[in-house]
Amino acid sequence: MTNTFNLIPEPVSVTAQTGSFKITDSTPLIFGDDCQKAGAFAATVLNLKQDDASDNPAIALNLVDGDIPAEGYTLTVAPNGVTVEANDEGGLFHGIQTLRQLLPAGQVAERTADAKIPAVTIDDYPKFKWRAMHLDVCRHFFDVTFVKKYIDLLAFHKMNIFHWHLTEDQGWRMPIDAYPKLAEVSAWRESTPLPENRHEQDGKPYGGIYTKDEIREVVAYADSLGITVLPEIELPGHTIAVLAAYPELGCVGEGYKVRTEWGIEDDVFCAGNDQVFEFLEKVFDEVLDLFPSEYIHIGGDECPKVRWESCDKCQARIKAEGLENEEALQSWFISKVGNYLASKGRKIIGWDEILEGGLPAGAAVASWRGIEGGVEAASLGHKVVMSPVTHCYFDYYQSPDRENEPPAFWWPIPEEQRVPGGPEFWGLIPLERTYTFDPHDGVPEGFQNMVMGGQSNLWTEYVPTTSQAEYQTYPRGSAISEALWSPMPAKGGRDFDAFVGRLAHHLKRLEALGVNYRHPKEHLS
Ligand code: ACM
Ligand code: ZN
Repeated sequence: MTNTFNLIPEPVSVTAQTGSFKITDSTPLIFGDDCQKAGAFAATVLNLKQDDASDNPAIALNLVDGDIPAEGYTLTVAPNGVTVEANDEGGLFHGIQTLRQLLPAGQVAERTADAKIPAVTIDDYPKFKWRAMHLDVCRHFFDVTFVKKYIDLLAFHKMNIFHWHLTEDQGWRMPIDAYPKLAEVSAWRESTPLPENRHEQDGKPYGGIYTKDEIREVVAYADSLGITVLPEIELPGHTIAVLAAYPELGCVGEGYKVRTEWGIEDDVFCAGNDQVFEFLEKVFDEVLDLFPSEYIHIGGDECPKVRWESCDKCQARIKAEGLENEEALQSWFISKVGNYLASKGRKIIGWDEILEGGLPAGAAVASWRGIEGGVEAASLGHKVVMSPVTHCYFDYYQSPDRENEPPAFWWPIPEEQRVPGGPEFWGLIPLERTYTFDPHDGVPEGFQNMVMGGQSNLWTEYVPTTSQAEYQTYPRGSAISEALWSPMPAKGGRDFDAFVGRLAHHLKRLEALGVNYRHPKEHLS
């Protein structure tokens, strides 16, 4: 077996060479004006200064015009120098992350002493271009310090999109100047379900909202690491926190409060009220101002239609637009928002429910209830991101031994539906399951080119603290990084045992980075 230096995600090609390169405080770091961001990042983690005047063996970052694939890189470590070459700055970032992993594990956060790195040639590029991790900051609120650490860890694993879930029934987290009551009312709830028993409340007010400066800081920080921030603003459902502040935007028009229970809320935006679209356009104007991302996530999941069915305004809209039913009204709603965002040069992505009633033109689909929505969207010529509950939900348990795990999402499987030896509850995604995630699985070959990649989702109903967020995310985050980056072995199927072997060392890196990962004791002593 080739020595891959315990790299995660595993590179496309690793060729060990003889000897090593020694990095000292006087090792020059050479990079040009065309890659200042990657250069600054390398200078920070390697603890080196930019310098091209020295004769010492150097570390050089080069943007080249070669045949290296997008985000790919070639890393050459030899006794007389190190070079990272890429066609784009993303590739340089990934090459630097690999170089970081070649350092002794204890120096991965920052090089603090002379360090020897093994001579090697690595050619590497990603299998998928959409490699995202999602974080729900609404069910529980996470401050900017933690969000930046979460982004650091994405970058460390060569992920490239941070999906920031900013609005929910239980709390709205982005201030909008045109609608100040979102910060005053929508960001706060009266009480929260107990993690160990969702049917009981803690009775304590809870909430929080970022400032626009904090959001700018996060977007700039992510950019300094080569990461795009994908904001998610939910519609038409998951919006009762908005209605609590602006009740005229709901079908009933009164009696709303920020939701204090988990689950799905019946009260959603009124699709028959033009003020709703005025609201959304103003919100998105401010969102687009802060987030340069090509895609904007508009949610679209879990929107009950009961209010629309008995609302005069919604029914009048159905009639006026010649729509068949409430599903078509949802499609019309999302198309209207999608057209607005398209007029501003952006694309929309939504959860797979946006297929109901017809997929709006140009929308990409994030398939979460399974892969079926993704397959259907791909067959209709739409771009797809796979994120099925079978592999990608990091709010689920990692072990069937629920008694010895912190509370997580689960649901008992009725006796009559259980299989002998199988799980007793829904909400179990062991490390191996995540590792075997393949966004192409089940997608007919002819449509696979529509699959942009995949992502993990961390919903935080059961995640009240940052340490719990890390516990749920790692090492499954390391596993998904490899599922999305590394090529499928030629024999087909990923080698979980080999991954676990590399993970044993990788956990030391996570430790050096101060990550509260779950030790996979089933696989490692
Ligand atoms: C989802 O998990 N409701 C997208
Ligand atoms: Zn209505």
